[in-house]
Amino acid sequence: MRILETESISLQELRLLPRHTPADAGMAHVSLRTRLCALGNGHLELGLPVLSAAMQAVSGPDLAIALAQLGGIGVLPLSQSIDAQCQAAAQVKRYKAGFQTDIVTLSPAQRLSEVVSLMRATGFATFPVTDTGLFHGRLLGVLTDKDFDPRGDGAARVADRMRKDVQVGVETHDLNAANQLMIDYGRGFLPIVSEAGTLLSVVFKKDRDKHLHHPDETVDSDRRLRIAAAVSTHPEDRERTEALLEQEVDVLVIDASDGHTAFQAEMIEWVKAIGDVPVVAGNVVTAEGFDFLADAGADAVKVGMGVGSGCTTQSLKATGRGQATALMDVAAARERRRQAGGRDLPLIADGGLAGPAAIVVALALGADSVMLGNLLARFSESPGQLVRGHRGELFKEYWMEGSKRAANTRRYAHATRDFFEEGVEGLVPHAGSIFDGVPVLERALRSALATAGCTTLRALHRGALLERQSPASLGDSAVHDLELAPTRAAASGG
Ligand code: IMP
Repeated sequence: MRILETESISLQELRLLPRHTPADAGMAHVSLRTRLCALGNGHLELGLPVLSAAMQAVSGPDLAIALAQLGGIGVLPLSQSIDAQCQAAAQVKRYKAGFQTDIVTLSPAQRLSEVVSLMRATGFATFPVTDTGLFHGRLLGVLTDKDFDPRGDGAARVADRMRKDVQVGVETHDLNAANQLMIDYGRGFLPIVSEAGTLLSVVFKKDRDKHLHHPDETVDSDRRLRIAAAVSTHPEDRERTEALLEQEVDVLVIDASDGHTAFQAEMIEWVKAIGDVPVVAGNVVTAEGFDFLADAGADAVKVGMGVGSGCTTQSLKATGRGQATALMDVAAARERRRQAGGRDLPLIADGGLAGPAAIVVALALGADSVMLGNLLARFSESPGQLVRGHRGELFKEYWMEGSKRAANTRRYAHATRDFFEEGVEGLVPHAGSIFDGVPVLERALRSALATAGCTTLRALHRGALLERQSPASLGDSAVHDLELAPTRAAASGG
């Protein structure tokens, strides 16, 4: 037994000191572009240093699509069937802004009574009709809520009421062109079909404004959105990995609460033998753990143990480390390796990033990006249900992967029978759409970098000056000596 002389500290205790900001280094000049992981001789880059946590309550396809559009990347959790994870990956990879592929189609033989139930269940009012009744069938017509009387026509068939004179876009892949056709035809929607008449997608007028250009979106060489997927080190996840690679996922993330294990090295070696997809390994919180994963061939390393917002690992098992200390130790190991001529691996800070301030500190300590659970679960695009509190305030469900609800046994145990809960279930305040929330976060990060006199994250790694705050100065740094105005108090749930 040995007790270290050092004390492990939290991101919340550190503050950045301001440094000189030259005239050409204001907020508008700050770039948040970063390295996610090594890829070939270079790096896979992100325009925004944010990954979504590999959690059921966070990374569904809608959030992954939105985050990639905003410059980050989603990581699909492994606590779902291989099929479900692959389908989610496919949904992200084939997403084209404005071209809807996630739509309900009808077959001509269906009764209209069934269509009424479908309308109620889905909220949709426009349904393409295909020969097979399936999405990639041949388009025969379109049925909308205006084409029949839901009370009187129940026994009739879709074929009796659908409109067959449907104007379509043939192989139209440019959104502006599709929108123009829709305007020319005076319609609220436009099915896009192949030369042979197969339904490829539908463009809706109501979606037009949602798909403004996203200059930072994370795309592959075919301009498809990028997606990452989590796998475990368990042998049964080799089948999962192969299936995900067939879906052309861009990055594999080995999801384990403790990454400093022989299983992790074996998994990295196995993945490297079957393909050239980059592998993010982790989690570690020590220099020793980092060196182990770097030697094993990881393309990026994820840092954090026991600091997730709903995590009970430290209180149950007494394992873990303050996230600031973990990052400093690992970043120092990375630097030693770099100076010795080794690979300069990107680091991902994972867990306990409670807001922009903690994110800035994590980035300043050497993280190249951050993985967020709690902060992203708050957005409308996350999979959790919206829940109304007793004062009318809105929350989103948030449950940890080690909770009974997610039961992600493979992240936490080496055999299912060894699993015990390491996380809780709870609620987080609803924060509206990610398209409104993330730009605010982005502005806070840019502003912080400008104050620190840095226009890039690399410059921040080299030039950040941080100081630990005494408990009294931390008190000064929070709102103090005033009552919140009533509207603010309501907004903060107080
Ligand atoms: P948050 O953003 O602080 O909520 O942390 C999210 C991170 O917590 C995830 O990316 C995981 O690394 C970690 N995590 C997820 N579920 C659990 C759990 O049940 N116990 C411990 N850590 C967890």
